[in-house]
Amino acid sequence: MRATLLVGISILTITSGVFYSCTKDVAKNPLLAYSDKALFDSCKNATAFTYYKNAPGMIYPGTNGPHGAFKLKFNKIATTSLTDNGKLPVGQQFPNGSMIVKEVQSNGMYALMFKKEGTWLWAEINADGSSAYSVNKDPSVCTSCHAQSGQRDLVVSFNFY
Ligand code: HEC
Repeated sequence: MRATLLVGISILTITSGVFYSCTKDVAKNPLLAYSDKALFDSCKNATAFTYYKNAPGMIYPGTNGPHGAFKLKFNKIATTSLTDNGKLPVGQQFPNGSMIVKEVQSNGMYALMFKKEGTWLWAEINADGSSAYSVNKDPSVCTSCHAQSGQRDLVVSFNFY
């Protein structure tokens, strides 16, 4: 009985040791792991979102960005921060759980940013749910442009609309 217990404890110790050594050297913060599928499902959940400035019919030309004409929506968590005439006040940050989605008019793609652990995750997901730019890719292509002057917590629509 006692021997079995001891063997059990040693197996547990060894397994957790192996598990630890396999996971400790990761480049990406594991807390930021997320799936395109989950983001796609969120984008489609109409009741979770409010359109920018409460104007669901509004289509913005998108001539300053790479996606062309789009609709813009914020989830409930993000919406609570839009207290400066519908915009995020200068110098403030969106809270974790915020999600901002561009509905690209030409092809139904979702371009989105989702805040997790204080970091924006970026993705582009096609209308059929396939990944156009996976959340697991290096987002610097998105952030390098979104860091432009006038951005508020890396959101740039406030500059133009
Ligand atoms: C060359 C610059 C540029 C690049 C690259 C870029 N964006 Fe944008 N993005 C913009 C601009 C400008 C807007 C404001 C709306 C518009 O004019 O299209 C915008 C708007 C957005 C919005 C709505 C929130 C906001 O910031 O206004 C999302 C979401 C978004 N982009 C996602 C992405 C993702 C995801 C990528 C990378 C795969 C990306 N963008 C790459 C310029 C860029």
